[in-house]
Amino acid sequence: MRVVVSESGTAAAQVVADLVERFVASAPRPALGLATGKTMEAVFAELVRRHSEQGLSFARVQAYLLDEYLDLDHDDQSAYRNVVHRLLGGRVDMGPGAIHGPNPQALDVTAECARYERQVREASIGLQLLGIGANGHIAFNEPGSPLDSATRVVELSEQTRADNARFFPAGRSVPSRAITQGISTIGAAARLVLVACGEHKARAVARALEGPVTAEIPASALQRHPRVAVVLDRWASSGLARSAS
Ligand code: GLP
Repeated sequence: MRVVVSESGTAAAQVVADLVERFVASAPRPALGLATGKTMEAVFAELVRRHSEQGLSFARVQAYLLDEYLDLDHDDQSAYRNVVHRLLGGRVDMGPGAIHGPNPQALDVTAECARYERQVREASIGLQLLGIGANGHIAFNEPGSPLDSATRVVELSEQTRADNARFFPAGRSVPSRAITQGISTIGAAARLVLVACGEHKARAVARALEGPVTAEIPASALQRHPRVAVVLDRWASSGLARSAS
């Protein structure tokens, strides 16, 4: 595991964009795993800037979402598919239909989870971006999620719903259910890049990187993956006992 500590969130986003740029430019058919959340917004903004100012092309990219809320309308602006289209896909030269995700409108959500699991496995994700929740979740794998879990319907914790309320209009409640790739699904990607910024992530980062591998901290599963880069700002790194590069 390589840990990079940047001076600021902006600098961390550049480090992540460098990794994405190299991957997108070198893979013949890049299958890119995308996360959502505030941390990713800075990464997406930097990728959009590189597209418009430096010609970074996403034309060959197929992108796969980690997770999606259930119980939102198809055109809800807080649905992750719409967020990723608004902040990245619609601002670069990704082909139509190049952003894939679980379909929360499916009549049979169990079958939809199995379909998306197959689709992600067959795509063979080359680079998977990940954020981390303050409780150590990755995607929507909340504490207690089995380390060998596959794509499935999950209940969101109160902490995650409270943390994510800022992405919904005032007065709207955050859905209580989502479809998420499992920890095992995520682990099948060739390379993982975990990004965390801010002091509120420091404890989860320290437990994920330096604590025991446990279902109680889903991000600790990354310790078992052969190719992981962790990109932090200095506040998110502040709970680490070991020093990083
Ligand atoms: C959501 C997403 C996660 C993401 C997390 C962190 O819960 N499902 O994939 O890692 O948010 O988001 P933020 O960067 O906003 O802290």
